Amino acid sequence: MDFVYGAGRNHLFVPGPVNIPEPVIRAMNRNNEDYRSPAVPALTKTLLEDVKKIFKTTTGTPFIIPTTGTGAWESALTNTLSPGDKIVTFLIGQFSLLWIDQQKRLNFNVDVIESDWGQGANLDALASKLQADWSHSIKAVCIVHNETATGVTNNLATVRKLLDFVSNRHISLNESGSADEYKHPALLLVDGVSSICALDFRMDEWGVDVALTGSQKALSMPTGMGFICASPKALEAAKTAKSLRVFFDWNDYLKFYKLGTYWPYTPSIQLLYGLRAALDLIFEEGLDNVISRHTRLGKATRLAVEAWGLKNCTQKEEWFSNTVTAVLVPSYINSADIVKRAWERYNLSLGLGLNKVAGKVFRIGHLGNLNELQLLGCLSGVEMVLKDVGYPVKLGSGVGAAATYLQNSTPMIPSRI
Ligand SMILES: Cc1ncc(COP(=O)(O)O)c(C=O)c1O
Repeated sequence: MDFVYGAGRNHLFVPGPVNIPEPVIRAMNRNNEDYRSPAVPALTKTLLEDVKKIFKTTTGTPFIIPTTGTGAWESALTNTLSPGDKIVTFLIGQFSLLWIDQQKRLNFNVDVIESDWGQGANLDALASKLQADWSHSIKAVCIVHNETATGVTNNLATVRKLLDFVSNRHISLNESGSADEYKHPALLLVDGVSSICALDFRMDEWGVDVALTGSQKALSMPTGMGFICASPKALEAAKTAKSLRVFFDWNDYLKFYKLGTYWPYTPSIQLLYGLRAALDLIFEEGLDNVISRHTRLGKATRLAVEAWGLKNCTQKEEWFSNTVTAVLVPSYINSADIVKRAWERYNLSLGLGLNKVAGKVFRIGHLGNLNELQLLGCLSGVEMVLKDVGYPVKLGSGVGAAATYLQNSTPMIPSRI
């Protein structure tokens, strides 16, 4: 094998998979165990309870599945819907595109609301569709909370408001109706792959029916675990949903939950212990502190981009993502050259532009177990690469802007004071 390691650490700044912290790596360095012994169900019980906390739900039912984000999508869709069901969904970037492709291949009736890449979901269009849907033919609204390809975060609280209140306009004459009768009954399915555990996400408060994420993103674990949380309404829908599912059938899990053994098939012991350590790290810092840290890192990155004189692919501030920044490059530069040079010369891994924005953007991932100084290292690497590829940047300009902000805003480490 060619020697590809390089001196020092690789600076992994793609928006997933992300760095795995040492305590998680160490927790996973262990032998296999009999998953039917009492120890594994006891561990699993605490994991399921704690996973609910990262979704901010007390009423949801969590499933930890050996899969990736893509499998978690499939699990969400097939457990709650039947072929031919109408879904309203948003196309705003590569990951929403891939989810839509899956929705079509699973034979749902997919109504796509498309926006420019760099814009958020068009919620006015959603409002019109819900308002026109007198017969409640829309069975689900599917939305990617954070589009990782463009660095766009959608406003889920507004989506919930639309589902709760838009429909009352067409039945508002029914004075005796309860608030529930005014709600649109569509399920709300949310891809939280690059948001949950990093961005503000409130499953119960926002009435999310199925939320999902993957282990290699903000949880900072290896790839291989999908996390899904289903609301009581989603579990009810699963009783009549006719989509074919076997490996992903929630019922198999629920049977084993009742038995207290938890696993319908062999779980990865190493990943379970890794998850325990990952959650412990998050709770030690405090989930809300984790979210504030991502807010800080996102802002610092955007300040650097501005200081370099470059533009964010995300077109409006309301959509700025605190987990990934997609940076637009001038037309005389191919952004893929930036990514290639960063890796070859500085041992820095940046995200490529995908599909429609290939060559036009490079992405800085700032999610997971990551701190201010690590980010500054990445930003200084980006500056050097920009100079390498012929962009006239003043070295230190972006780092200076970010450091000035971070020096003012970084709190003490909660566990050290
Ligand atoms: C928002 C989003 N959804 C879904 C996926 C797909 O996840 P996976 O690659 O784990 O299947 C990704 C992957 O980056 C993503 O960013």
